[in-house]
Amino acid sequence: MQTIIEPFRIKSVEPIHFNTPEQRDQILKKADYNPFLIKAKDVIIDLLTDSGTSAMSSNQWAAMMQGDESYAGSESFFRFESTIQKITGLPIVIPTHQGRAAEKILFSILGGKGKYFISNTLFDTTRANIEFSGAEGIDLICDEGKHPSIPAPFKGNMNLVSMEQCILDKGPKQIPLCILTITNNSGGGQPVSMENIRGVKQICRKYGIPLFIDACRFAENAYFIKLREQGYQQRSIPNIVHEIFGYADGCTMSAKKDAFANIGGFLAMHDESLAQQCRNLLIMTEGFPTYGGLAGRDLEAIATGLEEVMEEHYLQYRIRSTEYLTNKLIDAGVPVMQPAGGHAVYLDAKAFLPQIPINQYPGQALVGALYLHGGIRSVEIGSLMFGKYDHDHQLIPAALELVRLAIPRRVYTQSHIDYVAEVIIEVFQHRDKIKGLKIVEEAPTLRHFTAKLKPVSL
Ligand code: F0G
Repeated sequence: MQTIIEPFRIKSVEPIHFNTPEQRDQILKKADYNPFLIKAKDVIIDLLTDSGTSAMSSNQWAAMMQGDESYAGSESFFRFESTIQKITGLPIVIPTHQGRAAEKILFSILGGKGKYFISNTLFDTTRANIEFSGAEGIDLICDEGKHPSIPAPFKGNMNLVSMEQCILDKGPKQIPLCILTITNNSGGGQPVSMENIRGVKQICRKYGIPLFIDACRFAENAYFIKLREQGYQQRSIPNIVHEIFGYADGCTMSAKKDAFANIGGFLAMHDESLAQQCRNLLIMTEGFPTYGGLAGRDLEAIATGLEEVMEEHYLQYRIRSTEYLTNKLIDAGVPVMQPAGGHAVYLDAKAFLPQIPINQYPGQALVGALYLHGGIRSVEIGSLMFGKYDHDHQLIPAALELVRLAIPRRVYTQSHIDYVAEVIIEVFQHRDKIKGLKIVEEAPTLRHFTAKLKPVSL
């Protein structure tokens, strides 16, 4: 097979600043072993997130010049609205400044004490917004999704048996919404099959529970369906996407992912009375409903990006580049989540660093080691991000201890990725030297963003 090439040429470039391991040692200490506290200029390859970090296309930049910055009724809003309506079939579109703003609005209205939100896996901001409302979030991932090293085509699927059981246990009236995260970010960027989406919808319909899709990476998920699910090989991506959203009562979306935008998001739905409540909150917190916290030019960039992301050459290159890095690591014996996810490679930190106990955060220790060795910034998705404490202040660990290397869209070339693989493999060869960490300061919610840590030996 011929090499799958980047389906774009580069028109504008940004310099990378290089530093030495000795300098990085100081930087890491100063950042209290938290990658969120490292300055971007001190990072060589930034794989902290694929969110808001995409390279925009010349067409997106051109569209931004068309931005209509009118406060109310701007042309850019109508273009944004009609693009989303066409892609999703959802009639009501409400812009927000990013995904979590959409979540905040939705869960402020539907949440509250005694309520439960069920999901394959809630992303951290989604869970935080649910819990902040007083409600509880319940993850019901399929069994394959719990095991990083077992390959399966759709490890993001909901466990339908547990889902129905959970609805019966809690009572359908206590469950205002079911949320399917596609692809499943916290579970390894793994896709959800169309069959599973259909199954979730059937159960939702049976118990009168609306289904919302957390649609950040909808096009990547659709491409996996095309590749892996019987009956979809001949279908176009827009057609598959339309079917996915056809099962949904609504969605939240961070346009910072599959819309290639540096900022933005939206809510879309069928229910006019829910939409009216959302708009009322939107006006208080985000802005008037035809801009919702965004500039007209952002609405244009998103509308153009949403069309571009469904191009098959792009998706083939995108999914292949993640798989390319994953396969290089597998060949070298590095424990990674298998098969490759859509937007990121996930290292299995528990298997990578078996000498570090979970309460010394092996994922965060590995994040530090990758930065020290090669200036690569990654993020822990494990017990620092999702861990809780019991009554005796003992850590209740997360289900998995992962390190995510998220690949920004259209930003890095194959040689950047080769370098990343080399660094990880070298760190793996010296893994026995890596030490655990302890927390010295933390916030009550979303602690991973600001927590301060230090090596246990200090
Ligand atoms: N849902 C999912 C599945 C996400 O991955 C994110 C963000 C959000 C919601 C929230 O969107 O950032 O626009 O407010 N994920 C980023 C990440 C931050 O790095 O995975 P947002």
